[in-house]
Amino acid sequence: MIAAAVIVAAGKGERFGNAGKILARLNDRPVLEYSVDTFDQISRITEIVIVAGPHTEDAINRLVSASNWSTPIQVVRGGETRQVSTSNGVNAVSVDAEVILVHDAARPLVQPDQVEACIAAASEFGAAIVAAPVTDTIKQAYNLQIETTIDRSALWAAQTPQGFRADVLRDMMSRAAQQATLATDEASLAELSGHPVRIVPGNASNLKITHPTDIIIAEALLRARKELQ
Ligand code: CTP
Ligand code: MG
Repeated sequence: MIAAAVIVAAGKGERFGNAGKILARLNDRPVLEYSVDTFDQISRITEIVIVAGPHTEDAINRLVSASNWSTPIQVVRGGETRQVSTSNGVNAVSVDAEVILVHDAARPLVQPDQVEACIAAASEFGAAIVAAPVTDTIKQAYNLQIETTIDRSALWAAQTPQGFRADVLRDMMSRAAQQATLATDEASLAELSGHPVRIVPGNASNLKITHPTDIIIAEALLRARKELQ
């Protein structure tokens, strides 16, 4: 079974305060390079599509040309929403790929074992996402007045990669486009179409670079990983 990875990197990075957050330095390398390195190491992944924004396309093309990655990489243009960006990336994947993984370029610390587990679960169940158990106590409130405490044992924070059998993903995306459904992740589209989605248990270290302080946290996590090796 062979898989393709679509890495979405076309966002504006508004909360980071710098459109180039996926090109921001994490230690001495751009954020985007870390996840491409990880996907490049996985032998089942035979192609990678990076979805770039108009503001980052040139820099990403240069980065790919200068790299030593051995997996074939295409760079395509994204859109205004993550869903359009994903769809442009998925449309560029070859028909050979049986499983397609969608990954946020903004999650540089994803680990190879999580990617492998996501591919296996997507192949078996049709749809699977890496998610972390919620550790905070979650309150539901209206106008700052707490209504209830939600049972944490059933809560998971969705991360990426999100993996799908290629036919399931293409079907879901064309239905969403026809019905003009907007979702913040691909798993929601599967849920809406009634397709079961399997959770691959992950952890909080697969963080998303959202605010500038996340770079500091990611650097600390990388240091800790190095010390544990
Ligand atoms: N993304 C994308 N195309 C979009 C929006 C988001 O490819 N139109 C990608 C981002 O580049 C990122 C991932 O989706 O890798 C997760 O999105 P998020 O963390 O929200 O990034 P941004 O949208 O860039 O940030 P912000 O919401 O703060 O503007
Ligand atoms: Mg966003």
